[in-house]
Amino acid sequence: MFLSDLRKLFINYFIENNHKYIKSSSIVSKYKDLLFVNSGMSVFKKLFYNNNNLNFVDIVSNQKCLRVNGKYNDINNIGFSDRHNTFFEMLGNFSFGNYFKEKSIYMSFKFLTDKNYLSIDINKIIITVYYEDYDSYNIWKKLGIKKYNIVKVGDKNNIKYNSDNFWNISYFGLCGPCTEIYYDFGDKYDGNFPGYGNVGDRYLEIWNLVFIQYIMNKDRNLLKLKYNSVDTGMGLERIVSVIQNVNSNYEIKLFKDLIDIIKIELYKINFSVTFVKNISNSFFKIISDHIRSSIFIINDGIFPSNKKHGYILRKIIRRSYYNLTSIGIKKPFLYKLINKFLLVLYDNYNDKSLLKNNNNINKNIEDIIFKEENNFINILNNGLLILKKECKTNNNFFSRETINKLYNTYGLPIKLILDFCKSNNINFEY
Ligand code: ALA
Repeated sequence: MFLSDLRKLFINYFIENNHKYIKSSSIVSKYKDLLFVNSGMSVFKKLFYNNNNLNFVDIVSNQKCLRVNGKYNDINNIGFSDRHNTFFEMLGNFSFGNYFKEKSIYMSFKFLTDKNYLSIDINKIIITVYYEDYDSYNIWKKLGIKKYNIVKVGDKNNIKYNSDNFWNISYFGLCGPCTEIYYDFGDKYDGNFPGYGNVGDRYLEIWNLVFIQYIMNKDRNLLKLKYNSVDTGMGLERIVSVIQNVNSNYEIKLFKDLIDIIKIELYKINFSVTFVKNISNSFFKIISDHIRSSIFIINDGIFPSNKKHGYILRKIIRRSYYNLTSIGIKKPFLYKLINKFLLVLYDNYNDKSLLKNNNNINKNIEDIIFKEENNFINILNNGLLILKKECKTNNNFFSRETINKLYNTYGLPIKLILDFCKSNNINFEY
């Protein structure tokens, strides 16, 4: 089953269950407090407060998301985590004052385990619930999940509601207890049982069911909303990794194809097969992830710049380019990937609301990336001079503030600054 098949199955399942399908919004958030849409629910924010004008009740969506700033920021995980992507598609079902825990849990359980849908073995499913959420605990038990596979998760550092099982839209705001569904890849992989620390490669969180009931204010007090709502999110790339039986998002067919494209372009500039074989996995993860994200961002109308959305885009492109320098590439390269990436992405994101197939935009994407690579090459060439000067001004010590300033002002990647410090015996704090 490929991305498109799974997306279709999910959407149709919820349509059969009387949900209205809402196409993905642009990845650029229409709300000022968020640059990019970071979850399915963030485009429906208002409906959690007021559902009066809804002529339908329940929603299913496949929302483009980007987690690159604010509370949900995965940018520095990319390259190291097999389970994270900066861009991903979030499958979700929503109820605004209609059904609540029982129906929501039941529908998810059926989609995952029923033979007509994903047919996942019930023994491979582990559940976490917020420790005070007895309802969810009992509903899962009633559905046949063994007691030892349902974990009650508490608060961290004795701070009330500071828990992996209490979800907030951001640091404050809409929130509620959540129950998370994990998949067990089996004992050939290491990892702690969900709720007991790092789940490693063994367990994968596949679906989060949030029961939005409150608004958290700045003092962390909860105000009850007028009605209870449901907000769920399942990362499409993750659930596809389960169904394709691979232990990494980067091993699903989509990413394998993207990574092959990178390899072919490396061969074309005379890197040998043996050399390419020895390049770290993290190299390929960063480039495939970041260039895929850049394509989606540019496609939704953003250009690299020093501000807001454009700045994030710039950061992602520069992080990918800096990664290239680790194997000695000194000329623009990323732009060569664009057209081939686009062909693969069109196959997988063939719904027009996700990625528009438009020749003018395609040429544009390639040009934008090429220009940005060139700009950055100039910065890198000057970077050494900037760093040396800064070193003198700061008496051979780079504080966290200095490092952040260099990063924010000149766009020098943190890694470049730290590499420079290490190879020149400069003390630093970061
Ligand atoms: N809003 C929830 C999340 O993003 C579903 O995890």
